[in-house]
Amino acid sequence: MADFYAPCPKGLEGPLADELQALGVIDARARDAGVAFRGTLRTAMLVNLESRIASRVLMRVGDATYRSEDDVYAAALAVRWEEWFGPELTLKVETSAIKCPLKSIDFLTLRVKDAICDRLRERRGARPSIDTREPDVQVHLHLDRLQMTLYLDTTGAGLFRRGDARDTGLAPLKKNLAAGMLRIAGWQPGVPLYDPMCGSGTILSEAAEISLQRAPGLGRPFAFHNLAGFLASDWNPMYDAAEERALPVQPLPIWGSDIAGSAVEMTRENLTALGLQDSVHLKQVNVLETSAPAPEGMLITNPPYGVRVGEDEEMAAFYPEFGHLLKRRFAGWRAFILSGDLRLAKLIRLAASRRTPLFNGQIDCRLFEYRLVAGSNRTDDEAGDSRQDRLRSGSRETGNQEQND
Ligand SMILES: C[S@@+](CC[C@H](N)C(=O)[O-])C[C@H]1O[C@@H](n2cnc3c(N)ncnc32)[C@H](O)[C@@H]1O
Repeated sequence: MADFYAPCPKGLEGPLADELQALGVIDARARDAGVAFRGTLRTAMLVNLESRIASRVLMRVGDATYRSEDDVYAAALAVRWEEWFGPELTLKVETSAIKCPLKSIDFLTLRVKDAICDRLRERRGARPSIDTREPDVQVHLHLDRLQMTLYLDTTGAGLFRRGDARDTGLAPLKKNLAAGMLRIAGWQPGVPLYDPMCGSGTILSEAAEISLQRAPGLGRPFAFHNLAGFLASDWNPMYDAAEERALPVQPLPIWGSDIAGSAVEMTRENLTALGLQDSVHLKQVNVLETSAPAPEGMLITNPPYGVRVGEDEEMAAFYPEFGHLLKRRFAGWRAFILSGDLRLAKLIRLAASRRTPLFNGQIDCRLFEYRLVAGSNRTDDEAGDSRQDRLRSGSRETGNQEQND
């Protein structure tokens, strides 16, 4: 048994602990920006294969209190690295620190690397070479004010890198943040889902993959393959079972749209790369001209943040109109809007039933939830408008047409 730590976007610790418990991890404990758990390397493989919310899975191999660079070197030298990997593999050391009193984090990284190389040279007659881009083995050093912890990374490239979403300038969400939003919303496969500002389609592709019961870790390499404790007899049946579980691609009640043709195109490309182009309905349209694609469902989206000059005012004008649209055309739906622009809360003119703090990278966001019930103080015009919309969306319930057509 070993201690593990799975980092995740800040705000998703609770959902990640729930996800791990559902996977059968027995003592998942939410910590700051991650979840701690105990288990075997087999447990770590399962979490790597199945978790949609974790960013990676780290195995704790040593810890100590420290006061100097020499203490850090000595603690790293004491770890039995040779039991996990040999000098033939390439190595990288990564360091994170909170309130570390020592001067140079880079120097501490170097000392840990030296300690690992010295130990392997002594025990195995050679030292590993360093590869900072694509190492076979990655060691994480974490320091707080008094304590240092050493971890072996079991993951490799971050778990949120699944699929293909390229950097498009559309500010794509990380896949694990999108998965966390879906979990916080309580969305389940089969519930109609609509992202009307879909950008590169991250929320849509996550929802489609969840619907088809695809394990997020299929078809990618993991760092644990390189570790000496790796047993193919544990991994192969687990992997085969996950592969067999996946459902055939089929049309799903998932809709996406965006005002930008380039965004819709990027979403289509991303879905196609995952073989999901026939599962999700896409359209280019201004959200303010759209309507509900089903009588009930969940609208989950993240509007642009006003980062460029002029966008601030544009967004301030947009929120009241967006709120008005939700009230008029999405009665019966629940809307979940992720935003780092906290003016939204006031300007949208709807009462949020929940606000969940979440970090999108460094941006402190809220996931606002709005329960859209038919408004009691609407004008007759709006009521008529809403009745017509519902009739229109009702006619679209059957078949597999695009919305708004
Ligand atoms: C922050 S991005 C969404 C990123 C997306 N969640 C992803 O993971 O790729 C916001 C998107 O809203 C779109 N957008 C902005 N104003 C819009 C409007 N009025 N109607 C529809 N889409 C709009 C932008 O084109 C952009 O693609």
